[in-house]
Amino acid sequence: MKKWISMLLLCTLLGALTACGSDTVKEPEKKPSQADTSGQEAEDAKEPAAEAAEPENGKESLSDGKGKKGLVVYFSWSGNTENVANSIAAQTGADIFKIVPAEPYVDDYDELLDIATKEKQEGERPVIADTIENFEQYDIIYVGYPIWWSDMPMILYTFFDSYDFSGRTIAPFCTSGGSGLSGTVNSIKELEPEAEVLDGLHIGDSASSDPDSAVEEWLKSLSF
Ligand SMILES: Cc1cc2nc3c(=O)[nH]c(=O)nc-3n(C[C@H](O)[C@H](O)[C@H](O)COP(=O)(O)O)c2cc1C
Repeated sequence: MKKWISMLLLCTLLGALTACGSDTVKEPEKKPSQADTSGQEAEDAKEPAAEAAEPENGKESLSDGKGKKGLVVYFSWSGNTENVANSIAAQTGADIFKIVPAEPYVDDYDELLDIATKEKQEGERPVIADTIENFEQYDIIYVGYPIWWSDMPMILYTFFDSYDFSGRTIAPFCTSGGSGLSGTVNSIKELEPEAEVLDGLHIGDSASSDPDSAVEEWLKSLSF
């Protein structure tokens, strides 16, 4: 059995005693300056500076096929979510931006489990290395993440704290070992009440190396 599954079961059993459940995650605050990030790092997060990369397929980044300008933003530790992100960017022509932590995660899986547990328990907001330039130019943002402990990794909370999603459309997608979207779409709706949040896409980690048809079907199903 994968270690995260046994640890998840253990956390569920211990419940409130272990403070491992999702209700232990601090309610994210809206502004970077108010989040757990501090000092210059939080200041830096306010003003997008780095440019989102153009998609490699050479498509016009203006179009997602529905006349809106799209951006794919994702975090991925082991590459599964990245495969899905690349497929979305290739199929829509959206720009793409990878969320990279300012302090890189370890390569060791067991160590990562411990780090992710601590981040969740303490409601941390890991600092993102780069910022997105002219975020306001995007109408639809495809947001991708692996499921960590039945939730988004805490660095996604940093991301949602850092930008103004009012009037924009969010299309969430995730990969995971066995859990589905795990309530993350509702979490995003709570974080971004002024945005339209569409139905999410979940792809299991074993299917994530060949995501094109699932992505195509999902994109067709979205109405925005
Ligand atoms: C810290 C950690 C916690 C995880 N928790 C879960 C979980 O709660 N449910 C699940 O189905 N998979 C869980 N997984 C498995 C990942 O969601 C899955 O392998 C995902 O596809 C990894 O995506 P990536 O390659 O983009 O990082 C966890 C993995 C890690 C590293």
